[in-house]
Amino acid sequence: MGERVKKLLAKMTLAEKIGQMCQVAGTGGISQGLRNAVREGKVGSVLNETDMATLNEIQRVAMEESRLGIPVIIGRDIIHGFQTMLPIPLGQAATWNPDLIRKGARMAAVEGRSAGVHWTFAPMIDVTRDPRWGRIAESPGEDPYLTSVVGAAMIEGFQGKNLSDRDSLAACAKHFAGYGYSEAGKDYAYVNISESELRNIALPPFKAAVDAGVATFMTAFSDINGVPATGHAYLNRTVLREEWGFKGFVVSDWDSVIQLITHGYSESEKEAARASVAAGVDMEMASQTYLYNLAALTEEGKISEAMIDECTANILRVKFELGLFDHPYTDPVHFPEKGNPEHLDIAEDAARESIVLLKNDYNVLPLNPDNLQNVAIIGPMADDAHEQMGTWTFDGKEAWCRTPLQAIRERLKGKANLHFAKGLSNSRSRSHEGFAEALDIAAKCETVIMFMGEEAILSGEAHCRADINLPGAQNELLAKISKLGKTTVLVIMAGRPLTIEQTGHYTNAMLYAWHPGTMGGPAIADIIFGDAPPSGKLPVTFPKHVGQIPIYYNQRMSGKPATHDSFTYIDNIPQRAPQTSVGNTSFHMDVGFEPLYPFGYGLSYTRFHYGDVRLSAHEIKADESIEIYIDLTNTGERRGAETAQLYIRDRFGSITRPVRELKGFKKIWLDPGQTETLTFTLHADDLAFYNAENKRVVEPGDFDLWVGGDSRADRHAHFKIIE
Ligand code: GLC
Repeated sequence: MGERVKKLLAKMTLAEKIGQMCQVAGTGGISQGLRNAVREGKVGSVLNETDMATLNEIQRVAMEESRLGIPVIIGRDIIHGFQTMLPIPLGQAATWNPDLIRKGARMAAVEGRSAGVHWTFAPMIDVTRDPRWGRIAESPGEDPYLTSVVGAAMIEGFQGKNLSDRDSLAACAKHFAGYGYSEAGKDYAYVNISESELRNIALPPFKAAVDAGVATFMTAFSDINGVPATGHAYLNRTVLREEWGFKGFVVSDWDSVIQLITHGYSESEKEAARASVAAGVDMEMASQTYLYNLAALTEEGKISEAMIDECTANILRVKFELGLFDHPYTDPVHFPEKGNPEHLDIAEDAARESIVLLKNDYNVLPLNPDNLQNVAIIGPMADDAHEQMGTWTFDGKEAWCRTPLQAIRERLKGKANLHFAKGLSNSRSRSHEGFAEALDIAAKCETVIMFMGEEAILSGEAHCRADINLPGAQNELLAKISKLGKTTVLVIMAGRPLTIEQTGHYTNAMLYAWHPGTMGGPAIADIIFGDAPPSGKLPVTFPKHVGQIPIYYNQRMSGKPATHDSFTYIDNIPQRAPQTSVGNTSFHMDVGFEPLYPFGYGLSYTRFHYGDVRLSAHEIKADESIEIYIDLTNTGERRGAETAQLYIRDRFGSITRPVRELKGFKKIWLDPGQTETLTFTLHADDLAFYNAENKRVVEPGDFDLWVGGDSRADRHAHFKIIE
């Protein structure tokens, strides 16, 4: 590979090298301008074109009409499926099933490559603790370990066994780095993040992506502590190249090079181009400052040609690895039909395992179709294919979708009468016009299944919310329905955690389905009627109130931590209470200090019992590992899946350490009465962290570990790392 790159580079003019560093946006079809630019070697990549004939023609011009015949690499946001849509990434993370996530990415790659796309701008692996931020929908959630596992699984799925296989899709770890810390959960806002937080929380998933062999990186829009990520040499060169040895190429985000001017970091397009190349950004997306300025910058000695060679070599290397020189054209004969039954099954499996059971009072779920007479289906999310696919659904096929209403209608055919009313025209509607019809059908039925949540447009890029309650008049409708005293089941589809404490009071049972994708309907029906048990677990904390944000499980301890008896709830404070009488610990007087639902939480239709934790040793050295054993029993009457989670705490460190850190998990299916012994292996190196000197260290000392079904896991053991 190196030789092929070197030989080709030696033949290239400066202009042709710069051409490889330019990515242009497709405009639907091949304009004369694009045709000329490709022929003149000014285009290294095209994004947002997915018509195969157009892509093959663009490639033909590159291969046959340009001087050196260097193929163009075609990029697209294939974030959670191409035409067959998987659940949004936050929902996929809720499956805690890396194999299934890998399978979904593989399916997406096959569909994307069959359309002529070579490169996806995924996985997005920006850890975030702020559900106000619309892009939490695209993320695997709040935890660096789970995000690392999910990101690596997606990369492996996208890129397949060999990047040169016809159905491999080059992946892109984005957005490097710290984007999930956007101030106040507002997209594109500046990021203030400590070196320790960056190193110990935000960066590990990106390191895991490099270890998984990701072909490309994308820089974030964000200003990171005063330096925009696209101009951040420390991140893109020191960390990514020198420390981690990344060999692929780095692309800017859309216009993020020219935005260095808007940030007030670069004074001109020429300076923005210089700063970005100097910071290690090999390819410029959309804006064209490289095309118009790099030659002059090189001739003026402000950028060395060696630097241009390095950027070009990084890009050519990926193109060779992708096999684009050997098979530049796409022929559908090599690919299965998009949206074929196998793809739909994968989408359904992923949707099914993404669903989290949050509440199930009186075990109203699962519903037994044989015992149902009249069932009301109510809500704006019950029958809307577009909305259930969620954000980043550029190519999703609405016609292939199966909605909950369709699936339930089919499931109850010949068994029960079904009545449907939207109640609200969409998730944001504040009109009560549709209430009467909804309440009327609910009154006629014994069972009411409600579908509420957020339209797809309310999450994703630039779609942030300061109030994360159910939008519109949904809570008001739910409150009125709840007064009818029926058996109620609520399914929420949303692109983020919502503040649903009050909402939960209006229903007996509550399922969280995120935006479940093409096969969301059948997946939800399977869970509601017990054809499959719910197995999802939360990849993100659910706050009681937006004012608690950021609230997450792996926080650092306080010197004055709150406990249940350490604070007085605001309504219980007597008049003229003495100043120190309400408790001097870390809480909010009006909501307390706990979330509504913790990270890792999810109920089942059965019950699981964890035995005591057993350890292979209670003392290990810094180069040794420990085996952790625990018996897990299904003590209920139904088969179910449990994701047993392993958390640790480093009790004392040279810097304070989180009160808990996820370091392993195992998802296992058990029949009633079945017991399995789970084994976790913990290497001392898994406990390493970056200290105040920014050095990665494993410090001797006392550690706690817990195993359980969520981040409040209580099966405890203690061990030491010794010198
Ligand atoms: C967008 C997003 C990025 C996406 C790119 C191409 O602005 O920030 O995630 O991959 O542009 O669409």
